Amino acid sequence: MARRRFPGGRLVVATHNPGKLRELKDLFAPYTTGLVSAGDLGLPEPEETETTFEGNAELKARAAATASGACALADDSGLCVAALDGAPGIYSARWAGETKDFAVAMEKIRKELAAKGLTTSKAWFVCVLSLGFPDGHCETFEGRVDGDLVFPPRGTRGFGYDPIFRPDGHAITFGEMDPDAKHAMSHRARAFAQLIAACFDA
Ligand code: IMP
Repeated sequence: MARRRFPGGRLVVATHNPGKLRELKDLFAPYTTGLVSAGDLGLPEPEETETTFEGNAELKARAAATASGACALADDSGLCVAALDGAPGIYSARWAGETKDFAVAMEKIRKELAAKGLTTSKAWFVCVLSLGFPDGHCETFEGRVDGDLVFPPRGTRGFGYDPIFRPDGHAITFGEMDPDAKHAMSHRARAFAQLIAACFDA
């Protein structure tokens, strides 16, 4: 399938999440420095009304691209827990509540597992990156990383659910991992590699 390429110039990052913005800036550093966040432009954060990661990523990318008149990149991502039928999934941010307190969200996962007599579960992170164009077109890519959950949470690096997620083949959580090591294997890095190959000049 022919992919539409990024034409250069400004790229709006359609997120108000400082953790995602930091990771995307790190990932994009070799390709473009023209990143500006939707928050800095004063763009509103649209309500995530879709029922899939892909739907919500495209909704956010399209909203920011049409409002700004520039290409916009949106990230919709989350943690899926096998024993909880994939929850919190697309509701990962919402499980942290109004105050965006991920200690609360991680404890909620621990309690829901405990209610099933479990202390851990297989889990995976999903990241869908969508590049939106001002005419509403989107190019969309998905990455995933598998692992298991550990309690209590470990490490103070990363963001969100990183302290309870231990990727397969590793002894430490994303919360304990050097950011470069996380970037080498994460769901976001895997979606990003596809986006770069399809839409950017390496
Ligand atoms: P949304 O994509 O804005 O709906 O929010 C996704 C939520 O998933 C974030 O607020 C984080 O809690 C969680 N999440 C996504 N990616 C990561 C990650 O790389 N590490 C930890 N948590 C993540």
